[in-house]
Amino acid sequence: MIREMRAAIFDLDGVIVDTAKYHYLAWKRLANAHGFDFTEVDNERLKGVSRTQSLEILLEIGGLACDQAAKLQMAAQKNEWYVDHIRHMDTSEILPGATEYLQWLRARGIKTALGSASQNAPLILERLGISALFDVIVDGNKVTKAKPDPEVFLRAAEELDIPPASCIVFEDAEAGVEAACRAGMGAVGIGNVSNLKKADMVIPGLFELVVVSAYS
Ligand code: G6P
Ligand code: MG
Repeated sequence: MIREMRAAIFDLDGVIVDTAKYHYLAWKRLANAHGFDFTEVDNERLKGVSRTQSLEILLEIGGLACDQAAKLQMAAQKNEWYVDHIRHMDTSEILPGATEYLQWLRARGIKTALGSASQNAPLILERLGISALFDVIVDGNKVTKAKPDPEVFLRAAEELDIPPASCIVFEDAEAGVEAACRAGMGAVGIGNVSNLKKADMVIPGLFELVVVSAYS
């Protein structure tokens, strides 16, 4: 299906910035504090997954059963350690092509939005200095349903006042691509085609589109 792109909606983690390494350090520290290990391979399972669901996966890996109060405390502790990392981020951590592509879209009158599950998105955007490149920011503080539920992207389209069919989502996680499809939007996968089969196209990173847009 060929659609006119009137709005571009970007996931944050893995598309604009690589925060997976910091999530990994914080989850690993939590696992180690509870007497088990957590590897980078395990961390792949958490990409695009909500904080609560991530903790469930971590506890399953460690073979731990906890009550709700303990889970809340563990998630809060992990987030504290994670925020300790991200508050030191700077513009050098923006992934190649992200700023240029956002600027290119905006110069052509295409609306831009952030559609991220992260409750830390405002802090990350502020550290990266790119909040102003988004017309609308929808993050984990505004929505309740985790991807693959389409809520985050539908909310962005609504706030932009653009029909979902005219929106293209840029996503690195399988659950995010699924959410875009369920929202009736186009999906550009960032990463490897093997786990992003439902995407309309898959590219290694936004830098690829900057090369293409230089000729248009
Ligand atoms: C993104 C990341 C996940 C993370 C989730 C919630 O989807 O890919 O790894 O768990 O956001 O992030 P938060 O910063 O709120 O813990
Ligand atoms: Mg992501």
